[in-house]
Amino acid sequence: MATTDYNDLLVYFDGDFVPWAEATIHIFSPAVKYGAGVFEGIRGYWSDADERMHLFRVADHLRRLEYSQKMMRFDRIFTADEITAPLNELIRRNKFRESVHIRPTVYVDGTGESAAQGPVNSFIVAIPRGTPEYVHSGCRVQVSSWQRSADLAMPSRVKANANYNNSRFAAIQAKVDGYDTALMLNARGQVAEGPGMCIFIVRSGVPSTPSVTSSILESITRATLIDLLRDELGLVCAEREIDRSELYDAEEAFFCGTLWEITPITEFDGIPVGNGTIGPVTKQLQRAYFDLVKGVAPDPHGWRTTL
Ligand SMILES: Cc1ncc(COP(=O)(O)O)c(C=O)c1O
Repeated sequence: MATTDYNDLLVYFDGDFVPWAEATIHIFSPAVKYGAGVFEGIRGYWSDADERMHLFRVADHLRRLEYSQKMMRFDRIFTADEITAPLNELIRRNKFRESVHIRPTVYVDGTGESAAQGPVNSFIVAIPRGTPEYVHSGCRVQVSSWQRSADLAMPSRVKANANYNNSRFAAIQAKVDGYDTALMLNARGQVAEGPGMCIFIVRSGVPSTPSVTSSILESITRATLIDLLRDELGLVCAEREIDRSELYDAEEAFFCGTLWEITPITEFDGIPVGNGTIGPVTKQLQRAYFDLVKGVAPDPHGWRTTL
């Protein structure tokens, strides 16, 4: 199907495949009142060449979803095994013939207060979603005055719906100020991540990315790119604390994430990155990444699920 009309889609909701319009939850649920939910974003890449859908690193996303549920102390955990079969079936039933974004969510239903741990329910939504234009054009970034939430406040490692209100402040401010998106620093004033994506810089030829203790989501794309840099480009990526002042001296910089894929950064705060165009490491990495996720390159780690 080729559609942007979500009403044509089936959704997996409360154990059944139901039409889009029937997948509703109550306005008084903790999920609505407090954002009491956790989710994952997974991409499926449609290949015209082999007429198949390639899902990327589903098992790793669903493992992270288990961790997020545990951290939120839900009284029922939806395991990776439980979610895998309906997720695959949802893709088949919707008969997609284009690339998709898949969002499994586990949330607190009922009418409880903010610390309610149940009843817990789940849904999976999949919608058509192509590559963002920024992946080709690059994006202009504002280093935000909003801080990425600290581990002792709202751990970024947990992919909780409510966490996105933190990055929302930064993303909106960046747009209002004329930038494409934001980069947030953490409570220690060091580089953390963007609203929905991690960051890499290349400085003096060396790629670096903030360590997993920098108040970031432990991004699956980030981990993939560290491997690709080593295996495909012969570059060892440093995982370390990154200072703000290093950003303005980088030859290259890019965001990464399931949705943002590999998005080049062409400027920080009006200062061009390198010569303000997309650099060679970024370009080579984009090629290696897209070949991997789209089913063109070999898959030595068994990261793809082909439906
Ligand atoms: C806050 C945040 N950081 C980073 C990422 C990138 O993570 P991943 O590569 O696992 O999609 C995402 C997207 O899911 C995100 O929401």
